[in-house]
Amino acid sequence: MRWPAGVSLAGVSSRPRLPWAALPVAGSAVFPRSGGLCAERLSCDNAGPRVGAGPPMGRVDLHNHLLFGLDDGATDAGESLALAEALVEAGFTDVVTTPHSKPEMSPDGARCAERLGEVQRMLDERQVALKLHAGREHLLTPEFLARVEAGEATRLAGGPYVLVELPFATPVPGLRDAIFKLLMRGVRPIIAHPERCAHFTARPEAAPEVVAAGAHLQIEIGSVAGLYGSTAKKLAQALLAENLVAVAATDAHRSASTREVLGSGLKVLERSIGSARLQLLIEENPARVLAGSPLVLMPR
Ligand SMILES: [Fe+2]
Repeated sequence: MRWPAGVSLAGVSSRPRLPWAALPVAGSAVFPRSGGLCAERLSCDNAGPRVGAGPPMGRVDLHNHLLFGLDDGATDAGESLALAEALVEAGFTDVVTTPHSKPEMSPDGARCAERLGEVQRMLDERQVALKLHAGREHLLTPEFLARVEAGEATRLAGGPYVLVELPFATPVPGLRDAIFKLLMRGVRPIIAHPERCAHFTARPEAAPEVVAAGAHLQIEIGSVAGLYGSTAKKLAQALLAENLVAVAATDAHRSASTREVLGSGLKVLERSIGSARLQLLIEENPARVLAGSPLVLMPR
């Protein structure tokens, strides 16, 4: 199957701003809106509609390493509790736990599920009002694509989205083909922290390219505040300016750094994009992921 002609980067303007304004709206060039998973564009005035008929949610963190003893995240139950308390204090009601899934760090699914139940019981006993959901942060590898093919890859809260990590130091040839394969399997990738990955820092065209191909982008809440360095900060700002970001998340590993992310990081991000767009990135769209609904992007 061929890519739609509109995805080509040929003829992109050489203006000093990042050259992605002329590219197609996320998803719509590849899949019709009736496909059920494509992104919609939304105005700032109607950024706040809630998804579903359930009880109102607060903020939802889609990417974190809160479950202890599984990867390089929380090291013990106390650290999991401290992370959960920090998130609740910042207005979060739901967290999709995303232990790493990559060759050097890949606890099996049963162990992750057991730990999720254990931590949820601890939070309930201590009356910490945080609901945990299952997820993984998958490194994009041939093995991951094979697991998706076999229907074995853990999705975010069991819905149609997967959180996908790219290598930090090297670009990924064939990324659009991989996105296409995932979409053909009914799985829509949310790419974790693109502002920290060489694939995006090396080529500004890469971000609009993958959004046009049907992926979503998740930035770190702390990136705009410079918590991951100046390169990540500038790229996060540029992605936000072009309205290519669907979700912002903590990627929490330790409670001390997470408190900084949830303090200064959230404040700087809100000053930068305004409260309506912040709500879209950390509340509305993450709630849509939990509900398995299409995500929305601001107009470009
Ligand atoms: Fe992570």
